[in-house]
Amino acid sequence: MIKAVDFKYDGITALSKEQFDEHYKLYKGYVDKVNEITDKLKSHENGAKDANSTYSLYRGLKESEGFALDGCILHELYFENIGKPAIPCEKTTKLLNIQFGTIENFFEDLTACCKAARGWCVFCYEHRTATFRNILLDAHNVGNIALGYPLLVIDMYENTHRLGTYFFCVFTP
Ligand SMILES: [Fe+2]
Repeated sequence: MIKAVDFKYDGITALSKEQFDEHYKLYKGYVDKVNEITDKLKSHENGAKDANSTYSLYRGLKESEGFALDGCILHELYFENIGKPAIPCEKTTKLLNIQFGTIENFFEDLTACCKAARGWCVFCYEHRTATFRNILLDAHNVGNIALGYPLLVIDMYENTHRLGTYFFCVFTP
């Protein structure tokens, strides 16, 4: 069973208290659903027998498990970052300059990715090629890349967030 992280509104200027509370409620809903699905999967005795890729109860539970769990994880990373200044650490800035040419080019790409996303924009480090990527997610579980480690998670579902309010995680490749 998982528990909701107790994020506080303190010091957030990017969102009103009401917006924060409503968003936090949505996050807690995902946590509850992960637990409900986990319970149902445990008691679903015939999973292997009736599993089917067109339709099966098992398929529905597994698909929803990914959606709800990614909904939790992405919101936790988002709540952790929100309201903090958008200042990449020195090492990240150096690497972004090398990969994108200039830091301005990087922010242009990040902004475009946010505008084009229906769900999330995730700035990540892709281990396989050792490069940064701005990834577009149309839903919590649609668009994530394997081996992409999230460094900055921006919720675009509500589509009203200002890029300047996000913080880059300290990055150690
Ligand atoms: Fe959200």
